[in-house]
This record gives sequence, C-alpha cells and structure tokens, in this order.
Amino acid sequence: MAEAATKKTPTSLWAKHAFFEKNSIWLVIGILIVVAIGGLVEIVPLFYLKSTIEKVSGVRPWTPLELAGRNIYVREGCYNCHSQMIRPLRDEVERYGHYSLAAESMYDHPFQWGSKRTGPDLARVGNKYSDEWQRQHLADPRSVVPGSIMPGYPFLARTRLKGEYIAEDLSTQAELGVPYSPEMVENALADLRAQADPNADADALDERYPGAQQRDFDGNPALLSEADALIAYLQALGTMVDFKLYDDKANVR
Ligand code: HEC
Repeated sequence: MAEAATKKTPTSLWAKHAFFEKNSIWLVIGILIVVAIGGLVEIVPLFYLKSTIEKVSGVRPWTPLELAGRNIYVREGCYNCHSQMIRPLRDEVERYGHYSLAAESMYDHPFQWGSKRTGPDLARVGNKYSDEWQRQHLADPRSVVPGSIMPGYPFLARTRLKGEYIAEDLSTQAELGVPYSPEMVENALADLRAQADPNADADALDERYPGAQQRDFDGNPALLSEADALIAYLQALGTMVDFKLYDDKANVR
C-alpha cells in the first residue's frame, strides 16, 4: 500500500528520503549527523558558562574545623550509610526539610551526596540535636536510639585532632575552586582552634566565615578532639541557607 502511495506522488523529498531508506549505512551516517547537531546545541553553550550553579546567599566555604570534621566523615565512611541530598519529592521534603540546592554542595570536594541510606539523610541534620546528643550518639548510638544499628565511634572523643595539615588542605581546596583567600589559608590553624574554644576571639572567625558556630563541641575543654571537628561539621550541615527568606511554605509543597 505504502509503495503504491509512493508511486502515485513521487515528490522530490520522498525520492531523497528513499535513498536513506534503501541504504542502511547512509541512514546510520545521517542519524549520527542529526544527533551530533542536537548534541552540540545542548553542550556547546556549557563551555561558555562560568558556572551552571546558581549562587545562593548564605552558602560559604567550610571553616577549617568543619573541613577537618568533614575529612573524618569521609575517613570513617559515614557516606556508606548516609546520603546528603534531599530530593524534591514530597515524602523526603516532609521528613528532612527543604530539598537540597546545588549551591549547598558547591564547595564539597568530593561531594557527599551518597547513594545509600541505611541511616537517614544528613543534609539538614545541623542544629537538629544538641551537641550533647551528637556526642553520646557518636560514642554509643544505642544509648540514645535503642534500636539503632549504627556503629559507635567512641575513639573520636579521645583522639587529638591533627590540625597541622589544615592550611595545606585549604589551599588544595582553593585550587579546586573553593574561594579560600590567602588570608584564610594563613589563619587556618588559628581559626580551627578558635572555633572550638568558647573563650577565643570570635570576630575574625566570623568575618571570614559568617555564621560559624563557636563553642566546645565535644564538651571537653582539655582536648581539641576529632569529635569536636565532626560535631562542628554535623551541626553546620544544611544550616547555611535561610529558607525563611524565600518562602515559608516552599518545603511542604
Ligand atoms: C552501618 C551504617 C551506618 C554508618 C557507617 C553510620 N551511620 Fe549514622 N546512622 C545509621 C542509622 C541506621 C541511623 C538511624 C538510627 C540512629 O539514629 O542511630 C543513623 C543515624 C545517624 C544520625 C542521626 C540522624 C537523624 O536525623 O536522626 C547522625 C547524625 C549520624 N547517624 C551520623 C553518622 C556519622 C557522623 C557517621 C560516621 C562517623 C555515621 N553516622 C555512620 C547508620 C550508620
């Protein structure tokens, strides 16, 4: 039937298309050319954009202490059980809060989105619990959540935080594109100590890292421990963007 129709109206366009229909190699070449044009239209503009991530006010690089805590998070493999990305689905938004924005992990190298949730998402766990709760939970999860299957990390509170490398860590992050200034790198170790010491001068720290929380996170003033760093990091997670500024109801829609 189709053949009969073709014969009745042999327009030039059909005749040209018949060439592709009868020569499969040319059909494949033709498909490749058309797909390549479509691909270029989508990909080339990206080369001319400086960033595809929309900047959001409040998002700042991690403080040296938080960055050290983040390193412990990676070292201990917390990402094997915890994600840090709230998807824009109703059940997730109702459980964890506003869905994650790309900007919120733009300074994370490597990012900690994770792909497995044996435990809950941690993208907005900051300020959800007290430091005391975090301390106890890390040392012995079952002392605060009886049915928990999370392993305990009691050694963190006993282990001195090795901060000597922190300036190098900041400059490495700067090379990857995190806006750590030379001044931030220079003061990295001082800032790291100041954040965990409630008696230290907080002004310089706050100027460099607006909104950084400063206190003795592990409750033991005698030791700047790995728990100090990890809890400082956990308490900062998801707290940088003030969603009330945007839309109070955005997170329940
Ligand atoms: C074997 C899997 C596993 C590992 C590894 C793990 N967790 Fe968990 N985590 C869980 C589970 C399950 C829960 C839920 C029960 C509970 O609260 O203890 C949880 C809960 C939590 C919570 C409370 C979250 C909330 O919103 O109530 C925090 C904070 C947390 N984990 C931090 C960590 C950190 C930090 C590490 C790494 C040092 C870690 N977890 C490693 C399984 C894990």
